[in-house]
Amino acid sequence: MFRIESFQSVLAVHMITILMFCSLAVSKGKEIDHRIESLLSRMTLSEKIGQMVQINTLNGEIPEDLNIRIREGRLGSILNEIDPETSLEMQRIAVDESRLGIPLIMARDVIHGYRTIFPIPLGQAAAWNPELVRACAEVAAEEAATAGFHWTFTPMMDIARDPRWGRIAEGFGEDPYLASILAAAMVRGFQGDDLSAPHTIAACAKHFAGYGAAEGGRDYNTAIIPEGLLRDVYLPPFKAAVDAGVATIMTSFNEINGVPSSGNTLLLRQILREEWGFNGFVVSDWGSMAEMINHGFCADLKEVAEKSIEAGVDMEMQSPAYADHLEDLVNEGEVPLKLVDDAVRNILRIKFQLGLLDKPSPYSARTIGKPSQKTLELAKRTAVESIVLLKNEDNLLPLSKGIRSVAVIGPLADDPYEVLGTWNRDGQIEDTVTPLAAVQALLGESTKIHFAAGLAYTRSWDQKEFKNAVKQAEKSDVALLFVGEEAILSGEAHSRAFLNLPGAQDDLIYEIAKTGKPIVLIVLAGRPLVIGEVAEKAQAVLYAWHPGTMTGPALADLIFGMESPSGKLPVTFPKAEGQIPIYYNHKNTGRPPENRELMMIDDIPLRAFQSAPGDASRYLDIGYLPLYPFGYGLSYTEFEYKNLQLSSEKLQIGENLNVSVDLSNIGTAAADEIVQLYIQDLVGSLTRPVKELKGFQKIRLEPGETKKVIFTLSTNDLGFHNNDMRYVVEPGDFHIWVGENSQSGLMAEFELIE
Ligand code: GLC
Repeated sequence: MFRIESFQSVLAVHMITILMFCSLAVSKGKEIDHRIESLLSRMTLSEKIGQMVQINTLNGEIPEDLNIRIREGRLGSILNEIDPETSLEMQRIAVDESRLGIPLIMARDVIHGYRTIFPIPLGQAAAWNPELVRACAEVAAEEAATAGFHWTFTPMMDIARDPRWGRIAEGFGEDPYLASILAAAMVRGFQGDDLSAPHTIAACAKHFAGYGAAEGGRDYNTAIIPEGLLRDVYLPPFKAAVDAGVATIMTSFNEINGVPSSGNTLLLRQILREEWGFNGFVVSDWGSMAEMINHGFCADLKEVAEKSIEAGVDMEMQSPAYADHLEDLVNEGEVPLKLVDDAVRNILRIKFQLGLLDKPSPYSARTIGKPSQKTLELAKRTAVESIVLLKNEDNLLPLSKGIRSVAVIGPLADDPYEVLGTWNRDGQIEDTVTPLAAVQALLGESTKIHFAAGLAYTRSWDQKEFKNAVKQAEKSDVALLFVGEEAILSGEAHSRAFLNLPGAQDDLIYEIAKTGKPIVLIVLAGRPLVIGEVAEKAQAVLYAWHPGTMTGPALADLIFGMESPSGKLPVTFPKAEGQIPIYYNHKNTGRPPENRELMMIDDIPLRAFQSAPGDASRYLDIGYLPLYPFGYGLSYTEFEYKNLQLSSEKLQIGENLNVSVDLSNIGTAAADEIVQLYIQDLVGSLTRPVKELKGFQKIRLEPGETKKVIFTLSTNDLGFHNNDMRYVVEPGDFHIWVGENSQSGLMAEFELIE
């Protein structure tokens, strides 16, 4: 019999431990604040402004003026110094030769791995596995910290509904709920529980904000976002990152409704500081402050400095506005000294939390070696879970390892560089295991493997190798085609208007299809591509994103059945570019196309009378459905959803709703299923999306196994920002779905009452 007293004493111990931890944190915070004030009181204005300046170095050399600036305390941070000796020398000058010895904070973009390269963030999002995302960031932090970095500009959490935008590769897709959970997980991975620990580094939530709403998917372009939409869709991941304790925030290049982010007081003061209580520091993006002149928001660099500090940018990356003009602005009384002091407090707080001012030698930097077996295993696991099975006709996959012969074809079949994806800075191609190498290692001598690249690279139009590729396919039982995008075709400044496979890859696929051999199409890309027509030519399609160092082993294990695919799309796939923007959590409109007879373009009679009877919000030529919906992904087994139950059909606002479903594996392979929970608020004071993701769980089931999957939904999460920018949860009728993607699932109804 469990004794009550012992339960109370256990609870008491827990409470005391929590209180002790909290009071320790508070006292540590107080101690740091005291040290900040003591240091600040000794700083000249020039030294204060120096902390607010970050410069990118030239890797391996220190220009004389940089040396002087460091020695005179006119520099606070260095970006991208990868030579350990140079980095150590700069830090020595800062600590030993400057008047106050404040160390530099050394920064580097570690977007999806440092030496061990994990799947691009969009790929990691397809795994719907926050623990994996956290673990990858933890490894990346350890490797980057060993190399001498204290700070990285990650996670990027820009919601993106437009795959023409190259930076969709760097974020977590189109949904704010999924992106929020993964952003917080990545922050925890980089920062751990103690920023001063040797293996943790400061993270940076970027790009604040609305960058993914760039008009036309053209990078850096205008974002027109009603504030309610900004708060309901684009800001939640940043709020989650702040709640997870992210140390820094980076402003975005774009304007929002006429105000560039680096001069945006609503964003940086009202929302970030006053509403959210963020107490780290804000860094501008590369030159984004100076670009406010191009935007036509500032007349010159002096106005840039004034508007940026007033809005709340603490540190300037790579442009000279603060260094050249802030001192004058303060001395002329245009900018209150307090704004500078507050900015320096924010920066010093993170430097203290990093322990930079405590370590006897605040710095160590060394070249790091090859990835360990452990980190490679994690890279493979993450790649396996990120890859999405889009098609598997007649269960072609998994192939048998006893297969007699297999053709390995395509420009990405044996390329160790492109599969590392965008923003790879320090991954080495010597570490990459390509698909060809992995298939050879897995099948050994028992299978004949016929390789042909077909094209030298993805953009190539040179078809001279086609004949050989066809020949290799003809000799084989199955053709594995590895196609997609080179890494450089996504990421920053790489928007594309046409989203088909680049170069002559479509033609290569058509030529191989003429052999009549079964095709497994593996697409490696940084964004959703328009692949409908080529997918028709394949019996099976795997979407692998850019999976990183362990691309080959992950794909080989999935193709030959050592693993079952479990990835689900974190972003909608359009049938054509003309459908963009296309996303699952859209509004219903006054003319929803569902359940209507829709005449398609070729059905319209000649000289038809101009009318719109029964027509709806869709396209005459391609309809309204995506190629593949958000949350979609197949498995090698079959899952069945039954018995959706709600704890109540009528509940008070503020209560919790328990939702359960019985999930069964009725197939023959053990596999993971990502069970998704969506809601719809049927009637609101503002129109509401047709679906909103509010929960997901990844469940592993053996063949024949059934599990009851239970969600607890807080009704407080069913709200939105009304026109007064108040977050409201309104009474009324709701639909709720639990299922395998955003377009299917068991549905139930419930009512919210005041
Ligand atoms: C860039 C990017 C940003 C990156 C920064 C530093 O232009 O927009 O994401 O962190 O420069 O490299």
